[in-house]
Amino acid sequence: MNRRIGFGDTVLLYLDRKRRWLVKVSEGKQFHTHRGFIELEKIVGKSFGDSVITSTGDKLYVLKPTLVDILNFFERPTQVLYPKDLGLLLLKLDLEPGKRVIEAGTGSGVATAAIANAVKPSGHVYSYEVNLEFLNKARQNLSRLDLLKYVTLKHSDARDGFDEIDVDAVFLDLGDPWNVVSKAYLKLKGSGTLASFSPTMNQVEKTVSMMKKDGFIDIETCELLLRHMRVEEGRFRPETRMVAHTGYLTFARKANREDPEV
Ligand SMILES: C[S@@+](CC[C@H](N)C(=O)[O-])C[C@H]1O[C@@H](n2cnc3c(N)ncnc32)[C@H](O)[C@@H]1O
Repeated sequence: MNRRIGFGDTVLLYLDRKRRWLVKVSEGKQFHTHRGFIELEKIVGKSFGDSVITSTGDKLYVLKPTLVDILNFFERPTQVLYPKDLGLLLLKLDLEPGKRVIEAGTGSGVATAAIANAVKPSGHVYSYEVNLEFLNKARQNLSRLDLLKYVTLKHSDARDGFDEIDVDAVFLDLGDPWNVVSKAYLKLKGSGTLASFSPTMNQVEKTVSMMKKDGFIDIETCELLLRHMRVEEGRFRPETRMVAHTGYLTFARKANREDPEV
């Protein structure tokens, strides 16, 4: 049976593809949109998928927020990873519950949240960030998803190395990943997975040559292009606008240096 929505639940109020709001259901409060307002307590007792009518007679659907819905509402003091890149990242890092992951830098915590969500409840993310302001914003963002218990946020420079050992995966999203590759190598389990995200080609070149030097194998770099479609009968065509470039993803596996065959 569908669970009934109660006070304290967070819901997504959906008007159309472009207009949607993440709202906490609170007692005695109104929620205002350009299409009128609703009394939030009117949502209590409804099931996800039901709708409410605003003061101007418009219909808002009450949806259970997905991870992507919530990530879209994260505050972003930094560039963040987009869902298209996060999807492949989670697969290529081979993340599943129980895995332990090092990340640098935390930024706004968007990737941290996606990784924590994949490894919870028995796994953990150790996320390094040099900028205290960003780290605090990430903490605030992660608490919205109740993911903080699966994350250790560290105010530390990744170039100084990582405290954890034998981690399953490392993800690097910082300006000079090539300076951190050897630190990642030291802390990964044999055959562990490494990923790096960089917006420019020269960053990727430097990072890949450091990966080769350090003993990583199975190195591949790609760029993901996501083109949305406007589907109307007889007029099906791509959307005019798209996010043309986010960055390049590089993936690699750790080979053990002491193996006499290497
Ligand atoms: C593009 S942001 C990361 C965004 C993040 N992946 C997200 O999805 O929200 C890069 C971050 O790396 C941090 N950073 C840069 N150099 C660093 C270093 N040496 N150690 C730790 N963090 C670093 C920056 O302060 C910045 O917050």
